[in-house]
Amino acid sequence: MKFDRSVKIAPSILSADFANFGAEIQAVEAQGADWIHVDVMDGHYVPNITFGPATCAAIRPHIKTVMDVHLMIAPVDPYIQAFADAGADVITAHVEAGPHIHRTLQAIRATGAKAGLALNPGTPAEAAGPLLDLVDLICVMTVNPGFGGQKFIHSCVQKVTELREMIGDREVHIEIDGGVDPSTAPLVAAAGADVLVAGSAVFKGGSVENPAPYGENIRAIRASV
Ligand code: DX5
Ligand code: ZN
Repeated sequence: MKFDRSVKIAPSILSADFANFGAEIQAVEAQGADWIHVDVMDGHYVPNITFGPATCAAIRPHIKTVMDVHLMIAPVDPYIQAFADAGADVITAHVEAGPHIHRTLQAIRATGAKAGLALNPGTPAEAAGPLLDLVDLICVMTVNPGFGGQKFIHSCVQKVTELREMIGDREVHIEIDGGVDPSTAPLVAAAGADVLVAGSAVFKGGSVENPAPYGENIRAIRASV
């Protein structure tokens, strides 16, 4: 993965057809997706359950771009190797998921995957301060994790500005996750974000049989920044 700070649209398959992930991924990549965002939820760290390493391994062959795995699980450490073996390019852990985030990020990098750090809306940018040289991506949650289709939390935009300043010229992506659409994308792009996760705003109105709306939705977000 060569680093560049150009805007990337990362559809979240949480909003895709759970009975047809492979075809949905192929369709949304053909319609312009830059990364594929994979939301893993354990029903413990967040009040929802999605899927685990076996599903990630099953969908990996269908992803031509970047498999961006977002772990909304606690504990994280026992499962890092399984997600790396499943083929994740990026593995993102929540700073709030346990007491040893520094060790968790080291463990992710030790697998050869890129390390991501996710910050919930209630977590200040300063939490990333001690970890800036251990991460390849910082994921700013702009909704409370667990579900797609929620309302964007505007107060998180300031955190993006702060993180952009803290990162300086380090090769660290700033990813935005939750409520991204053509009205909110420009706010976070202007503040310094480069990876825009979008679930409902990308998958709305389309299907594997009728993927054109996926492309229209992706282009609308890209054109808005
Ligand atoms: C929420 C997930 C997000 C979510 C985004 O816990 O981490 O990736 O799928 O969905 P939208 O774009 O619909 O807010
Ligand atoms: Zn996510």
